Amino acid sequence: MDFLETCVVLLMAYIVLKYLGTLVTPKLDLVIGGYCHPKFKKVEELIRKKVISGKEKGGAFAVYHRGEVLIDMWAGYADEEAKRPWTRDTMTVTFSTTKSIAAITIAKMVESGWLDYSNLVSDYWPEFGCNGKENITVEMLLSHQAGLVWLNGEKTTLRDIRDYPAEFEKLLERATPEWQPGTKRGYHTVTYGYFVDTLARKADPKHRNISTIFKEEIQDPYDIDFYIGLPKELSYRMARGHFFTIAELLISSLAVPRKFILFAKMMFSPSSMLGKSIKTMDFSNTELNDPETRSIGLSSFIGCGSARSLGKLYSYIANGGTCKGKQLFPPNLNERLTKPVTSGYDECIATENTYGLGFMFRDNPQGNLVFGHPGLGGQVVYADPTNQISLAYVTNYNSIFGFWDDARFLDLEKTFYECFREYQTS
Ligand SMILES: *[C@@H]1O[C@H](CO)[C@@H](O)[C@H](O)[C@H]1NC(C)=O
Ligand SMILES: *[C@@H]1O[C@H](CO)[C@@H](O)[C@H](O)[C@H]1NC(C)=O
Repeated sequence: MDFLETCVVLLMAYIVLKYLGTLVTPKLDLVIGGYCHPKFKKVEELIRKKVISGKEKGGAFAVYHRGEVLIDMWAGYADEEAKRPWTRDTMTVTFSTTKSIAAITIAKMVESGWLDYSNLVSDYWPEFGCNGKENITVEMLLSHQAGLVWLNGEKTTLRDIRDYPAEFEKLLERATPEWQPGTKRGYHTVTYGYFVDTLARKADPKHRNISTIFKEEIQDPYDIDFYIGLPKELSYRMARGHFFTIAELLISSLAVPRKFILFAKMMFSPSSMLGKSIKTMDFSNTELNDPETRSIGLSSFIGCGSARSLGKLYSYIANGGTCKGKQLFPPNLNERLTKPVTSGYDECIATENTYGLGFMFRDNPQGNLVFGHPGLGGQVVYADPTNQISLAYVTNYNSIFGFWDDARFLDLEKTFYECFREYQTS
């Protein structure tokens, strides 16, 4: 009871403070900008309504159809305190959507013949092949089947990755899987990037890191304004993040039981698979407002970009690998990316999940199997190959909804598809 009472008191205090806050905060000018195809004006109206009602305080939404922009809109403030509006080039931390950007980078390496999905990780990284990890394939690692959700209790920091790469690598090599690799699946919340990024560096003929491989093989040649680890000199383009600490997540989720259970597990149950996966890194999301922190490339969650950049990159994989005459992937490789690899109970998130080669799959409310990645706070990117659509939503006002379930995004998605049905028949 004590715990529940504390939660209720905290919730009430939180609501009162929020309410008082709105009374003393001066009203800012309404910000909404960008392009919206005339047949999709209902989406623009929805965004306007949300900004006026305060439900959208900072974010961007982009949709491409056959590689053409249908919607590229933004609204609200990149930094409310500084009265800096969201603009065309505003970027934000896109959290776990970055996992799929690493997946696309890996696919590019597969195309180049540097990697093969069915090969063992230890073919590229021999020291990895010990302690039960001998038979882990590249595909298992990408589809969260490797069982490496944590590092057996060893703590890591973000700085370790950049400043002590040799020691960090040894830590990864010592890890033992939580289950027989390939027999179960469970979200590798933090460790996905640890292992995938290291594998990429080992397999790359020039041993570049994931940030550099992405930059040289995809970002530059395809003009994608996205960064795995943001160069500090670009920090002026970043929206200030409104992040939750885990304690704040817990308090804010009191009214949503399934979220509350999830966050309670993160905080109070270090022995649960989810608790283990989170506590592998000594980190608080609030640190992501530090340019130094953001500059360290880690594909688990440190990617920075706009909705447009995500939508543009995904327009290739939504269209068979080629978009507007430019090929990102040959058809057979692209086809592989659109296929789920494993489906069923997720040991970490404790729900059913479907994973592909670094992507998550979902039946969207319109009944299409889409694939891409959600991210903490409400971020989303996906490809809908049935309709040749790619779509992304990003926000700096992070919510408790990080699994394609943020109402801001769901409303946009619903209105978009309503317009799209009319657009197709006209
Ligand atoms: C790996 O596969 C080989 C051959 O199938 C098998 O003998 C060995 O026990 C496996 N190792 C592990 C750690 O699962
Ligand atoms: C990745 O490589 C680039 C180029 O060598 C380097 O500047 C950057 O610091 C590296 N990032 C990490 C996290 O090591």
